[in-house]
Amino acid sequence: MADATAFDTPDPTLGELLAARPMLSMHPSAGLCVEEVPLTRLADAVGTPAWVYSATTLRSRARALTGALSNAALNAHCHFAVKSNPNLAVLALLAREGFGADIVSEGEMRAARAAGIPARNIVFSGVGKTERELRLAIAEDIQQINLESAEEAEMLSAIATTLGRTMRVALRVNPHVDAKTHAKITTGTDENKFGVDVPLAPDLYRRICALPGLEPLGLAVHIGSQITRGIGSYAAAYRRLGELVVALRARGLPVPRVDCGGGLGIPYRDETPAGPEALAGAIHSGLGNLGLELMLEPGRWICGPAGVLLSRVVIQKQGTARRFVILDAAMNDLIRPAMYESWHGILPVSPTRFHAPVSAADVVGPVCESSDTFTTHRALPDLPGGELVAILDAGAYGASMSSTYNARPLAPEILVEGARWSVVRQRQGYDALLAGQSVPDWLAPDRLVP
Ligand code: LLP
Repeated sequence: MADATAFDTPDPTLGELLAARPMLSMHPSAGLCVEEVPLTRLADAVGTPAWVYSATTLRSRARALTGALSNAALNAHCHFAVKSNPNLAVLALLAREGFGADIVSEGEMRAARAAGIPARNIVFSGVGKTERELRLAIAEDIQQINLESAEEAEMLSAIATTLGRTMRVALRVNPHVDAKTHAKITTGTDENKFGVDVPLAPDLYRRICALPGLEPLGLAVHIGSQITRGIGSYAAAYRRLGELVVALRARGLPVPRVDCGGGLGIPYRDETPAGPEALAGAIHSGLGNLGLELMLEPGRWICGPAGVLLSRVVIQKQGTARRFVILDAAMNDLIRPAMYESWHGILPVSPTRFHAPVSAADVVGPVCESSDTFTTHRALPDLPGGELVAILDAGAYGASMSSTYNARPLAPEILVEGARWSVVRQRQGYDALLAGQSVPDWLAPDRLVP
């Protein structure tokens, strides 16, 4: 678990966390607001835990990214990584900003289509697409499938040929760069399951060009997620991709397109990740002069800072050595701290608590696992039962990674814009939680031997 002692800089203060997040404000009487909506009002209306997203933040981040790409004179199109936040309202909002979808499953394809994203704006990534999923992608005639292996190319070719169709594909290459991010979310080294290694790419690309039913359009790359240590790994990856494009073209192979992946990091604590301008610069210097049609697959950078997880303190417990603030949100809602030791800011919603003196506290959930811990040794005010807190930067890989562990229903999602808000996913009911299960008749109570 991420202990304060694991960092060599002090945690940001509550005031610093607030000041760095423009969608949040502390109203002197209404307390912490997302845009113009007090979180107390949402907690009263919808209950807790609940995910709260800012539409204005989503929109302005989408525009900042597309603006940086067009300022760098790149012919680039963004496909939102649906896995980061598959809520239909979020997808629909981004579709209106011209974003397509980067999907990794049939479920994500259905979500993208249900949100109104046209099939021609959908790219299918992922290392283990099933035959059923590939058939569906062909039937929907999506924009592109990113192939991850020779075996997958053969499989898709066979399916497309049987269906009498041709599918547009790109080959995902593994540029062997270290994204210098958490080991669980780095993907671009030759020890990862993703993509094919650069030295193998030319022969495989040539083979793909010869396979029936496939129309190769170029290359794809994604080196990892939450990339915060400069732009160097991106620059190296795109340089390598640029060289590969040139090498493939020299062999007479068509390479009109490169999908540049996602991965831009956000500041959860005090990280200073490169922003869209630096990313656009790295793409420009590696790939800018090749007349390519470019694609990006951003997830976290768009939606991470746009969401909070709103939770109520169930009880505050003073242990021998530690103070525990026990929330009604848990690892089943937001698993990132348990899974990646990730640090999320936590703000009290009450203005009085926000300005009160702080002392060390562990903030935990009620699930029966020690790893159900959002943070340890965090400087927080007294937070007795009933107080509300917002766990920050929870808009990406938050709700999308939730489970019902401990038979806890999935939390609702709320979209705020200015002073208005809508529930965009209802809290899962207990009937829905148990739906689909049954006890076989040979276990029915009247058949049980006493
Ligand atoms: N494209 C591909 C092929 C990907 O695998 C991913 C993320 C993305 C795009 C979007 O990456 P982003 O821009 O969001 O960094 N659950 C982890 C993150 C896993 C990322 C998986 N792939 C977390 O909570 O940090």
